[in-house]
Amino acid sequence: MWVADMDFAAPPFILDALKRRIDHPILGYTDRPASLNEAFQGWLDYHFGWEIHDSWQVWLPGVVPALNLACQILEAGCEIIIPTPVYHPFLALAKNASLKEVRVPMRQVDGHWTMDFDTLQASVTPRSRMMLICNPQNPTGRCYNEAELHELASFVINNNLILVSDEIHCNIILGTNAQHHPISALVPELLERTISLYSASKVYNIPGVSSAVAVIGDASLRARFINARKGLVPGIGPLGLIAAECAFHDRSNWIPELTQYLRGNLEYLREQLGNRLAPLEGTYLAWINVADQQLENTEAHFAHHGLGISPGVQFGEASHIRLNFGCPRSTLEEGLRRFKLALQE
Ligand SMILES: Cc1ncc(COP(=O)(O)O)c(C=O)c1O
Repeated sequence: MWVADMDFAAPPFILDALKRRIDHPILGYTDRPASLNEAFQGWLDYHFGWEIHDSWQVWLPGVVPALNLACQILEAGCEIIIPTPVYHPFLALAKNASLKEVRVPMRQVDGHWTMDFDTLQASVTPRSRMMLICNPQNPTGRCYNEAELHELASFVINNNLILVSDEIHCNIILGTNAQHHPISALVPELLERTISLYSASKVYNIPGVSSAVAVIGDASLRARFINARKGLVPGIGPLGLIAAECAFHDRSNWIPELTQYLRGNLEYLREQLGNRLAPLEGTYLAWINVADQQLENTEAHFAHHGLGISPGVQFGEASHIRLNFGCPRSTLEEGLRRFKLALQE
């Protein structure tokens, strides 16, 4: 119940398209079809009412490479600001690009994790260049509301930062009042300084058939990003292109049915875990407080009881664990049985 993919088969319409592609015996280098760009534009508009230009899209084999490329555009020694806890590859970015990482702990308000703008402002220095977030937030499950995103936009603009917004979980919204807002759609002034990242991989459970897209509205920022990739990050392979295009064309019940099932799992988690579970609005990743257990090696302790979790320390917050509930209810029930046993001992 650790790595962030689900135990569900990918949708038949994607598998069928992949099978049809495999019937063609040549799996050589492939150009990206223009139809993929159109499919993604249609998808952004359909789900979020965001109309983007064809030229704003930069396609890559993954969101993590895109996060790293974004950091490569900065000069060595500059600072990047990252609210924590956060998806752990964010915490390797600075080192990979010879930058300085400034972690700013999020705070909890009525159990909800949120960005702490006072501390964020205090963390800004003359060398601050970029802020990186993910929304919906991995691992806390927060889906930032409009007020938070507006405050974030002001912070970024006032401090002349580039914003990188990883929105890979944008279709997995479980909270009844929660809604995903692509930040540059909500605050168009951000477009000139924002790199927004998307992929079909989470909601369609196809992360092994890698593909992702960076939306960069500003031509010079886009040119810097594209320049940084040269020779380092390849294009998308033929199967990734097929899977992504098929996913972005989807208007079926896949997303409503998946999220409905995940809501049931979440309800079960709430019943079983009570206050240990952080209020969750998006993702299939539960953020669970185990501070009272005072575990020395959290991962090993749960593994000893037959439960593979992600220890909070990976995300910069040792008091919690992250548990993936993108699985059949029976698996979740068994996982929670083992979780409780681990707490008893
Ligand atoms: C917030 C976030 N970004 C990126 C990724 C991974 O993206 P990719 O597999 O496209 O590199 C994940 C996977 O768990 C994630 O949760």
